Amino acid sequence: MPVPLSVWNTAPTSAPAQRKGRYLSGSTAHPAKMLPRIAAHAISTYTRPGDLVLDPMCGIGTTLVEAIHLGRSALGVEYEPKWANLARLNATSATHEGGTGTGAVHCGDARRLTQLIPAALHGEVDLVVTSPPYGPSVHGQVRSSRETGERGVVKKDFRYSHDPANLAHVSTDRLLEAFTGILAQCRLMLRPGGTAVVTTRPWRERGELIDLPSAVLAAGRAAGLIPTERCVALLAGIRDGQLISRPSFFQMKNVRDARRQGIPLSVVQHEDVLVFTRPQNRPDCGTASSRCATGAARTPHAACTLRSRTCTTGRPHGHR
Ligand SMILES: C[S@@+](CC[C@H](N)C(=O)[O-])C[C@H]1O[C@@H](n2cnc3c(N)ncnc32)[C@H](O)[C@@H]1O
Repeated sequence: MPVPLSVWNTAPTSAPAQRKGRYLSGSTAHPAKMLPRIAAHAISTYTRPGDLVLDPMCGIGTTLVEAIHLGRSALGVEYEPKWANLARLNATSATHEGGTGTGAVHCGDARRLTQLIPAALHGEVDLVVTSPPYGPSVHGQVRSSRETGERGVVKKDFRYSHDPANLAHVSTDRLLEAFTGILAQCRLMLRPGGTAVVTTRPWRERGELIDLPSAVLAAGRAAGLIPTERCVALLAGIRDGQLISRPSFFQMKNVRDARRQGIPLSVVQHEDVLVFTRPQNRPDCGTASSRCATGAARTPHAACTLRSRTCTTGRPHGHR
């Protein structure tokens, strides 16, 4: 059955305008931030106030900041201490700016998500919003020769770090293998029927198309999640029925360079948004019959390790 497709109008204003006054200035240095309106749209669409949102690769904490402003609780995991600290500061700032939600950030490897997130929250997450690291060529800030004293345009802030264990630095195959494992752990974090939203983009490597969205779709399926929607989150604005493109300097440069070599590249105007659902009923867990969110009787299930934990959280059962 074909999955429903919808278009999210997520760039009525530019990325800097969306972050202005909401994110600390150091946030600009992160090479691959999510557009705030994408996170906000996902959170408003798939959760209610008071729900719990998780981002296992949270960068500067966009998911957390937007969740806090929308009155949700948010958890983030980030591998790099530098970005984890910034995510914490951005989350704190969101609460000071009037956000009524809460946020907590754990610094660590999302491949060990179940060890990093307190056991009491396993099976309690309503929504995962995340984006794997990919396609570094289009990221970065521009410095002119006037600022640097060097010849020509200089690229800066295009790396997450120099740590080879950061998944941004591994091959696409290894990234997908690791991301499948991360999604499988996200499934255990989600309540039955909970949603996972993953944003990705395709890119080209030496002219060859790397279709990351299709690969992430397969990764989600392999992780035991059900694809339920495939959406388009616009990076371009809409004016008088026309798309208003806002490409970065390096996107334009990549496209021009590719076209000079005869590769018919276009400026990307959207992120692919893949939406998955945690099945209600998994035979390896038996949560659907026993877990409180279904409204069914809370009978313990011997094979379900989540069972006893979800009932000790103090969070309202059947809160959906
Ligand atoms: C595409 S960025 C996410 C950006 C984030 N959505 C934001 O708006 O800031 C991917 C993030 O994953 C982090 N990362 C890479 N490997 C990781 C791992 N094994 N565990 C957790 N985070 C990881 C990177 O450091 C990077 O910050």
